[in-house]
Amino acid sequence: MKTRLSDDEKRAFYKDGFFVLRELIPEELVTAAQARYRSARPGEDLTHAPEFTDLVNKSPLTPIMRELMGEFDPPSATRHIVRPKNQKPGDHFVALGYRDKDLPYYGTDLHMDGQAVFRTPQEPAVGTPEEIYKQYISTGRKGDIGRCADNIGVNYAPLFHDPGMTNSLGGFTAFLFVCLSDQTMPGGGQTNVLRGGHHAAERFFRWQHSVNGCLGPEGPGWPRLNHDVPNRCGYRHLPDRMYEEFIDETAECTPDGRRWPRPTPVFMSPGDATIAMYHIPHGGSRNENGNSARKSPIFALVNKKRQPNKVMAGNSDHPDRAWDGSFLEFEEGNDPYERSRYALCNMYHEWDGMTEIVAQERAKERDSESAPAQRQGSAG
Ligand SMILES: [Fe+2]
Repeated sequence: MKTRLSDDEKRAFYKDGFFVLRELIPEELVTAAQARYRSARPGEDLTHAPEFTDLVNKSPLTPIMRELMGEFDPPSATRHIVRPKNQKPGDHFVALGYRDKDLPYYGTDLHMDGQAVFRTPQEPAVGTPEEIYKQYISTGRKGDIGRCADNIGVNYAPLFHDPGMTNSLGGFTAFLFVCLSDQTMPGGGQTNVLRGGHHAAERFFRWQHSVNGCLGPEGPGWPRLNHDVPNRCGYRHLPDRMYEEFIDETAECTPDGRRWPRPTPVFMSPGDATIAMYHIPHGGSRNENGNSARKSPIFALVNKKRQPNKVMAGNSDHPDRAWDGSFLEFEEGNDPYERSRYALCNMYHEWDGMTEIVAQERAKERDSESAPAQRQGSAG
């Protein structure tokens, strides 16, 4: 049984921000989870069904993740994102403010988790940017309570995670995507990632921190909404600097001529599992071409050292708050928001098994950055 990533695998994981483990999950666990989906009653809540948490708790993922990141609570909950087959591009506006059918890459919307999203206007929004923002954030779970940390999006993520409103991102340590359906074809409903985007995200958070300590949307360089889109109320799921950094000659456009970074589809088969950094921008694609519904239970793990006295269920993208967005109690002297900001700016702090590889790779990067200057110096 595989119990750890090899050093070469860790190097690839460092570089890409995600790593696919082929045929890792024992067949009987895959079969039991697939059967649980089939036997579910319409609308049944499978969040806590053990057939899914077993995919981590009874599989090699547990020793692999313990070695790679350190201690974590065995998940007791799962996020289920099922995409039926034969999905078609739609006329509706999506969170980015464009019509679904106009987005490239099967509608993949690269984002980071833990951002509060609200109801997407289906008609072009009217008014000033301030009026559009106010209207947009009044459509969450608490209604029109204004711009404050109590405001909770339709996805249960808070508008700001801390009472001081200095962080608008969640922030766990690791994603696990366990594959239960054939996702080997382009447009198969699979998760896509921005390969290497985790490094850009960490750099960006460090820059935001250096400016005024506010991280995520509404921090420096990252207005939450983009009014220069067809519905005038588009969510900036990534800062413009990151979108621009990953534009290359393969980038496709929306009809307005805007180019979008090309995501990497994570092709998987039942029994495969993907480990990814929290920091990697990612997004699901429409399941236009799959031969079955896309089924991949998703887990969000947090290194136990973040909050040793709290138990994480494994399905939340806002671990500093309760699932419904309410505030949690912390003991005297424990500032959970500061710990989370630190983790956003120091992404390998919670990957204990990556320490050596990260040190080696970053030393190589420093060497290669200083090499041209040295050569110039010696030539002069
Ligand atoms: Fe996500």
